[in-house]
Amino acid sequence: MAADAAPPPAIFVLFGATGDLARRMVLPAFYSLAEQGLLPADWRLIGSGRGEVSQEEFVRSVRQSLADFGPPVRSRTWSQFRKRLRFAAGDFTSGGHGALLAEIADARRELGARAQLIHYLAIPPQAFIDITRSLADHGLTEGARVVYEKPFGTSRATFRQLDRAVHRVLDESQVYRIDHFLGKEATQDLHVLRFANGVFAAMWSREHVRAVQIDCPETLGVADRADFYDHTGAVLDMLVTHLFQVAAEVAMEPPASLAPADLQAARESIIGRFRPLDPAEVVRGQFEGYRDLDGVARNSRTETFVAARLWVDTPRWRGVPFLLRTGKRLHRTHQSVSLILRDPAGPLTALPRPGNVLRLSLDGSGAIELRMVAKAPGVGLTLDTATASVPVSAIDDTPPLPPYVRLIHDVLSGDRSLVTRPDGLAHVWKVAEPVLTATGRLKPYAPGSWGPAAAAKLAAPDGWLLGQ
Ligand code: BG6
Repeated sequence: MAADAAPPPAIFVLFGATGDLARRMVLPAFYSLAEQGLLPADWRLIGSGRGEVSQEEFVRSVRQSLADFGPPVRSRTWSQFRKRLRFAAGDFTSGGHGALLAEIADARRELGARAQLIHYLAIPPQAFIDITRSLADHGLTEGARVVYEKPFGTSRATFRQLDRAVHRVLDESQVYRIDHFLGKEATQDLHVLRFANGVFAAMWSREHVRAVQIDCPETLGVADRADFYDHTGAVLDMLVTHLFQVAAEVAMEPPASLAPADLQAARESIIGRFRPLDPAEVVRGQFEGYRDLDGVARNSRTETFVAARLWVDTPRWRGVPFLLRTGKRLHRTHQSVSLILRDPAGPLTALPRPGNVLRLSLDGSGAIELRMVAKAPGVGLTLDTATASVPVSAIDDTPPLPPYVRLIHDVLSGDRSLVTRPDGLAHVWKVAEPVLTATGRLKPYAPGSWGPAAAAKLAAPDGWLLGQ
């Protein structure tokens, strides 16, 4: 994390402040930063929302979101924290901007002209363009940073439209498109492991790696956000966003340095070498009972499962399949990135499969695991596998930073290493297009299963390591 001597005071405007994302992720992360002494010495958080919410009600709802979604609240931190919360009610894009402008003006008076203005858009992506335009119309873009959640666009055409609207009023250096999978500690360990350890640096290519699996099954359903999900689906919600960014973390060429701009450039430019997905190598499914959920169209064609074989056309990765899978109501929840290593040429044959695997668990606090083939104790030569596992929390005995904590800190301190870039995203939509426009039938699957049987074939001969 970039060290920051004396960051200027910050005015953090949170659009969608009473919505689900703000309550679950953004507000708890902001509070964690306060708890850890990582916020600037002075700041204001101004919630913006359409509801007629009073100042006191907003403070109560922030307190409730901390109770519901953590972290533990200490009264000393909270008493200072709550004093800096403000709420501006009104529909910012259609005439209801007065309260927000007044709050920002007050905050500027209190914090001084140096204060860094940050707009965090915790709102549905369909509202990104309108809010961005309104920020410019009301003179709120100069020197400001603007944070966009994923997905940034939903197709090649909508991406271009959004990108143009954003760049009409903001310089790229002001734009923070975040993807919280990049903020996970274990995701960052992908590049640290590789660039800091000779053994991993040496094996990071087609010569040694037979296949890569990025597997994120979830037992969770979508009942509490069915309407959002039915307009999104697994391809946009996870595959071309989180899973593609993680694939880019694995596939990137060594950056010139780990300075933010170099790291960002290495990760985003490799996406340009992803081959457009072939619908014959993609399986889309929908769990049985999905269409009966409130908020889901009775004839919905939204996929709740996707598995895909992605190819990265570089000398380093040519011929190595990147197998990506995610879905709702599956057998197990896990997030793992596995590099399956080729068997060495040599005297031992009939090695257990898959034998040698480097795996990073991205969920929870994260873990690094190495599975090896070893001799089973005893007189004969029987081969077995054993796994060494290092939880990230065991490194330096420091609790890992939750991804939103890390990303909001980056925005406050101006570190863009984990921010996605428009050139990378332009390629994402190109690579995804054959699947977004495919009309093939969705394959049904039973809740609690591993998804449609067809997905298992994609991962042959090893099969999905987590199960299938
Ligand atoms: C979100 C998706 O971005 O990521 C969810 O919208 C998904 O559908 C979630 O469940 C998974 O991320 P996390 O933080 O729970 O690991």
